Amino acid sequence: MTAHASLRLGIDIGGTAIKYGVVDTATGVLAGPIDQVPTPSTPAEVAAALRGISETVQSLEPAPPPNSAVGVAFPAIIRRGRACSAANISQEWLGMDVNAFFGAALERPIHALNDADAAGLAEASLGAGQGRDGAVLVLTLGTGIGSAMVVDGRLVPNYELGHLEIGGAKAESRASAVARERDGLDWTEYAVRLQEYLRHVEMLFSPELIILGGGISVRHGDFLPHVQLDTPVVPAVLNNSAGVVGAALAVV
Ligand code: BGC
Repeated sequence: MTAHASLRLGIDIGGTAIKYGVVDTATGVLAGPIDQVPTPSTPAEVAAALRGISETVQSLEPAPPPNSAVGVAFPAIIRRGRACSAANISQEWLGMDVNAFFGAALERPIHALNDADAAGLAEASLGAGQGRDGAVLVLTLGTGIGSAMVVDGRLVPNYELGHLEIGGAKAESRASAVARERDGLDWTEYAVRLQEYLRHVEMLFSPELIILGGGISVRHGDFLPHVQLDTPVVPAVLNNSAGVVGAALAVV
């Protein structure tokens, strides 16, 4: 088995699926397909799933160096490897040293970071934000709202702009993709809520560019034309690979 020095395994832990892939960190390009397994419920089961992924990936060609660090995108505030929030995940994760926990299971170094930070890093540097300087804000619209602030190509970690309160409610409880489905909103109704949120974000942070990601971004033609902001708003282009690529890039 040939190990290629610049290859790293990137893993993106989501609510329903754990996606993974091998990324050439010299270019940010995937060295193979994105695969996925269902997300189990307990931390121990997730660790076992990650171990299985690591073993599978190392048996394939091309593989990252055997004991190279693994990038893990995780849906929580991650401070120095520790999960410091658990908004849309089991409370069992709260306070857990994710780097150490997964590191013990995989027997290799782990670099965990917030899921939106991983996706945002990739999207801002290699996707819709490529070539843009200044403050690029990436928002992922999914179960919650994730956010990543990337300034001149550097990530400012753990922005939690989905938790901004507007009119007494958390933004993600009103303007996420899941909130749209839960409340049965058509695209125009959803655009009204999204615009209210984006205007607030625009006023507070004045980004140069806002990129909207998450599964819903493929339907941008249905809602973006109804959103009027002074800041350019564009859909993400990397879609389901962004978290995997960003996690791998964050390792090195
Ligand atoms: C969490 C964030 C996460 C986002 C997307 C939010 O509820 O607080 O940490 O990035 O959901 O998963």
